Amino acid sequence: MSDRPLLLAAFEINAPNLTSQGLWAHPEQTTLQYKDIDHWLDLARLLEDGGFDLLFLADSPGYPVLGGRTPDVTFEQAVEMPTNDPVVLIPAMAAVTRRLGFAVTASTTFEGPYPNARRFATLDHLTRGRIGWNVVTTSSPVVSELHGRDALPPHDVRYDVADEHLELSYRLFEGAWEDGAVLADKAARRFADPRRVHPVHHEGRWFSSHGYFKVEPSPQRTPVLFQAGASERGREFAATHAEVVFLQGRNEETLRRQVEDLHARAQRHGRGPGSLRTLVGLTVVLGRDRDHARTRLEEYLSWVDEGAARAYYASMTGIDLAALDPNGSFSDLKTDGGRTQVERYRGETVARARADFLRFGMREFVLTGSAVDVVDDIERLVAATGIDGFNFTPFVVPGSYEEFCDQVVPELRRRGLLEEYSMRREGSTLREVIFGAGRSRLPADHPAARFRPALQERP
Ligand SMILES: Cc1cc2nc3c(=O)[nH]c(=O)nc-3n(C[C@H](O)[C@H](O)[C@H](O)COP(=O)(O)O)c2cc1C
Repeated sequence: MSDRPLLLAAFEINAPNLTSQGLWAHPEQTTLQYKDIDHWLDLARLLEDGGFDLLFLADSPGYPVLGGRTPDVTFEQAVEMPTNDPVVLIPAMAAVTRRLGFAVTASTTFEGPYPNARRFATLDHLTRGRIGWNVVTTSSPVVSELHGRDALPPHDVRYDVADEHLELSYRLFEGAWEDGAVLADKAARRFADPRRVHPVHHEGRWFSSHGYFKVEPSPQRTPVLFQAGASERGREFAATHAEVVFLQGRNEETLRRQVEDLHARAQRHGRGPGSLRTLVGLTVVLGRDRDHARTRLEEYLSWVDEGAARAYYASMTGIDLAALDPNGSFSDLKTDGGRTQVERYRGETVARARADFLRFGMREFVLTGSAVDVVDDIERLVAATGIDGFNFTPFVVPGSYEEFCDQVVPELRRRGLLEEYSMRREGSTLREVIFGAGRSRLPADHPAARFRPALQERP
């Protein structure tokens, strides 16, 4: 087990449903208030006070298409429709919290590097260094049509585009303004030293940008880089760039192998040990005992709408689960859509994969029992796999968080698995929360460091 405390993220989206399609209608669910800023402010306070390190905001610019049309269930069950912009929630939530970090999703296929870097650098200022970027490549062809673009680039090319997007982003975040360029000297009436501000020149295969970056250096410069994508190409991309990686392991053994594989790949890319952290999805349903908790779990699952779950799966992967031979193997499936939700069922029959997804969606480890039972399971899971933390995926908001924070967090702290907040310095950046004090900037062995201006003596 890692000697670091666990990292705790909350998995959310600015929409009525996240991964369990149909749960929006559960009587305890409050996600219909996603349009109300108070919903988000209450959630941010709850997470910070309850022991979470960060709020992770997914984003889904696409929507389901099955057999060439968007099925009615998309609208009837709010399957990725509607979905509001997650970025604009962040400054408001940052204003009512002191330590909670925010990781937000932005696509390298559809967001231009320059405006995206400007937005993230501004967020890093406004949050005082508490911002992370979940880098995604987007696998839904409808997004190309929405943007008036040609067809979505093929799967692996999307990652080539992402590599170049990040290269240009690093030039902007790391290379444009030297430390010390900003003087803000009112007495001398000099804002910045022009010798320390550099125009960026990037002429690549997919992007080009020439000129000055308009945001002065922020506390972290490059936002903390998050990634999820279990395809071969996705894992290479994560090992090159990511600092926090969401893994998709359904059992301890596959998760352990994924953790090992990722660290080995990162090392091959010249990154030191401890250069990235891994998270896996976690759902907790509590009860007096395991049986009672399982009864509560079944009640939540009874709200899942199978037609909506099928449409959601198709939106992510391009695959209609209902059209497959139930006796076929998932290992034989190929897709040019997102592969993570296909890879996770490798080795299983279509019938089993379908049954699982139509019940649990993207959920990974679903733990049931008393708080002590659940923490026993977490302790074992962490020891067996080397995972660094969890992406907590609720059934209902705020109830799932409340019971976790009230009952499970104290038990995790008692066993030394989670840090007391009081021990953590207020004003830490997100990168410091994840990697330790004094680590606000990316380390020298990260590829972004190549784009820092060489330190020159100034007369
Ligand atoms: C926990 C988790 C969260 C994700 N969040 C998003 C998201 O918000 N938006 C998105 O487009 N893809 C999201 N994905 C999908 C992946 O980031 C990835 O882009 C997709 O699976 C395609 O890559 P792949 O073919 O390498 O799997 C998420 C995946 C996981 C496991």
